[in-house]
Amino acid sequence: MRIAMIGTGYVGLVSGACFSDFGHQVVCVDKDVRKVQLLEKNVMPIFEPGLAELVANNVRAGRLSFTTDLAEGVRNADAVFIAVGTPSRRGDGHADLSYVFAAAREIAESITKPCVIVTKSTVPVGTGDEVERILKEFSLLKQGVTVVSNPEFLREGAAIEDFKRPDRVVVGTDDEAARDIMREIYRPLSLNQSAPLLFTSRRTSELIKYAANAFLAVKITFINEIADLCEAVGADVQEVSRGIGLDKRIGSKFLHAGPGYGGSCFPKDTLALLKTAGDVEVPQRIVEATVQVNEARKRAMGRKVIKALGGDAHGKNVALLGLTFKPNTDDMRDAPSLAIVAALQDAGANVRAYDPEGMAHAEALVQNVAFHPNPYAAAENADAIVIVTEWDEFRALDLPRLAAGSRSALLVDLRNIYPVGEAERAGFKLVGVGKPRAVVDQSVS
Ligand code: UDX
Repeated sequence: MRIAMIGTGYVGLVSGACFSDFGHQVVCVDKDVRKVQLLEKNVMPIFEPGLAELVANNVRAGRLSFTTDLAEGVRNADAVFIAVGTPSRRGDGHADLSYVFAAAREIAESITKPCVIVTKSTVPVGTGDEVERILKEFSLLKQGVTVVSNPEFLREGAAIEDFKRPDRVVVGTDDEAARDIMREIYRPLSLNQSAPLLFTSRRTSELIKYAANAFLAVKITFINEIADLCEAVGADVQEVSRGIGLDKRIGSKFLHAGPGYGGSCFPKDTLALLKTAGDVEVPQRIVEATVQVNEARKRAMGRKVIKALGGDAHGKNVALLGLTFKPNTDDMRDAPSLAIVAALQDAGANVRAYDPEGMAHAEALVQNVAFHPNPYAAAENADAIVIVTEWDEFRALDLPRLAAGSRSALLVDLRNIYPVGEAERAGFKLVGVGKPRAVVDQSVS
């Protein structure tokens, strides 16, 4: 199959590289000249484990190329994927579809033969119909061009693995010829494993993506509130998670309590779902509550640190370990660390930080934060050390060294990486999330 991928953001670049690795002929198109030049030199615009190597291998094999010329990329394609950004529109929270429609228009101008146009970007229900309307203006529908929805479920940091070993692939179209093309594109998956290709209508497929992300956001937020309850009643949220997650109807994933979800998808997609629901006057109260609870939680984590400091953070040094919204990414979008920094600085604390990949982006988003080259430098003379993101390198910290270099040997572990015994043996007082405080206090005394 000949595939054109419009947009080389997270989803576009990973999907394009993986499709070429499946054996398809892929051209990735992006308007950004500099980005394309760098990609041609195998410089990735994002940090994603394994991506540079995957891209290099497939470029070398002659299956993957990059261009700024959309018309050239689209001309011979059997499938044109739209994977441009759909950010939250400033002011109203609706998904901004201007990039999608602009791409659709340009594609329509360049198409020379029957093909499928596939929206891979996360787009609100009904966007496929709008794209179809654009094609109609160019009289393309009669010429065998169809519009298909094929949402992407990959996670940053595990993107290639998720793309190649998905739980399912959702394809929204009622057109039989389009289904055949999509079946062919994803055929290598069914040879490797039994990931089902789920065919639905286009609108259903568009909604599945939002419903999936909203459900996961609800699941995380649910366990975060249970964590608060655990702290109040002296229970342990990690054991609660295990205890409920073993029930197959619930499932063990996305039940890790923490500082609240961030990133480029959950915050934006929950808001967009609420907007769609508002437009048709079908309130989604559970998702609404989730958005509010999660938003409040991020700053509340700053207050949690202040409480651990004895209620007064004025003039205290607080070292944050991890700034990105999750590990294995340099992405700082909607990261809980941003709200935590703000809450701590508002309370008069001096904030210092270390993150393995996120510091360059973080520097542009926060002020008066001292960045350090490693966790130990960040934690020097700290009154509190806060684990914000569960990077692997924080799982094997030299805790005695960290405690010795700090001022108060107080560890606030917002990801529950460290068992209380281990932290205490190293000389730390440990405060986790959803951990039985009474037991911690007893064992300290
Ligand atoms: C998410 C979805 O998983 C993916 O299917 C969708 O396509 C895009 O959005 P991503 O944003 O890359 O992917 O990250 P994910 O691993 O899902 O984590 C999202 C946020 O939830 C992070 O801030 C993470 O720390 C948080 N999280 C996740 C928890 O707090 N607890 C959990 O148990 C899981």
